[in-house]
Order: sequence, then structure tokens, then C-alpha cells
Amino acid sequence: MRFDGVHEKTVVIIKPDGVQRSLVGEVTKRLEMKGLKIVAMKMMILSEDKLREHYAHHVEKPFYPGLEAFMKSSPVVAMVAEGKDAVAAVRLIAGVTNAGKADGGTIRGDLAMGMCNVIHCSDSPENGEAEVKRFFDESEVFEYNKTEWLHVYMEDERA
Ligand code: PPS
Repeated sequence: MRFDGVHEKTVVIIKPDGVQRSLVGEVTKRLEMKGLKIVAMKMMILSEDKLREHYAHHVEKPFYPGLEAFMKSSPVVAMVAEGKDAVAAVRLIAGVTNAGKADGGTIRGDLAMGMCNVIHCSDSPENGEAEVKRFFDESEVFEYNKTEWLHVYMEDERA
């Protein structure tokens, strides 16, 4: 059984504040409850080089030194979540970047107050693919059927 329409991948990184504040379970629960399929998950410490690559568009911005120090201040938990329009789905439940302005009901809106905003999530399907390659070896990303998907998507949504 293969559901061709539902294999978009997005990377979610539970940032140091999420790990330090014991929110790994809460974030993972919300992704799973939404109906996303976790296909990779690991704890890691982000290196300066990896962060400079990941935030390439921001390295010249005034906030970058603080962001880099924050992102390497403790381990993070990186995941790949898969599903139909997974990038948009995760951004909806993540809420806007500044957690202080994020809607109630979202991860950032419910769990944070400002720019310590608990998670990073990919901002486009293309970046989702690139970030999977950036943070995971091929052998760390799993392909498996989730029978639950019969009850997450209607048949025409899986095609
Ligand atoms: S921008 O400037 O609008 O393009 O930035 P944005 O896309 O909103 O954010 C890019 C990432 O930078 C982080 N960020 C910050 N961190 C610390 N302090 C400040 N002031 C700040 N501004 C932006 C923001 O959380 C984004 O990180 P990710 O990992 O993508 O969530």
C-alpha cells in the first residue's frame, strides 16, 4: 500500500529552549496528533558550520550572533515529519516566528513568549527536502506504511 500524494517532508527542530523546558514530548505529541508521520528523529548538537549553512540568509543580520549562540547552547531534537502538504500543516500548528504574537492553540502561541520560539520548521517543500539532506543521513530517514493514514486522509487525498 503506497500513498503517493502524502510524502511531502518537513524538518522540525526542537530548539534548545524546547529541550531545556522539557517540551520534546509536547511538541512531538502535537505533530503526531495532527496526523503527521514521524520518519526520522534524533538529538544532536548543532555546529557553527551547520548553523551558518542553515541560516545562510541571516548570517549578516544583527540578531545572528545571538541566534547562533542560542542554537548551540544545548542539544536540539531534529525530526522529519511527513504528510500531505506537510510543510504548510506544520507551519499552521507552529504559529508565527515571534511566539509572543502567535495565536493560542499553536505550539509557539501556547508554549513560548518571544524569540525563544521552541521549534524551527521548514518554510517551503524545497527547503524541506534540502533540510532533510542537511541534518540527516539517508539511513536515518525511514520509509514505512502507517495504517492510521487510512483514517487521516480520504482516498482522493492519498492519490
Ligand atoms: S526574517 O528576518 O524575517 O527573515 O527572519 P525570520 O524568517 O522571521 O527568522 C529567521 C530565523 O531567525 C530567528 N530570528 C531570531 N532569533 C533570535 N533573535 C531575533 N531577534 C531573531 N529574529 C529572527 C527566527 O527564530 C528564525 O529561526 P528559525 O529556526 O527559522 O525558526
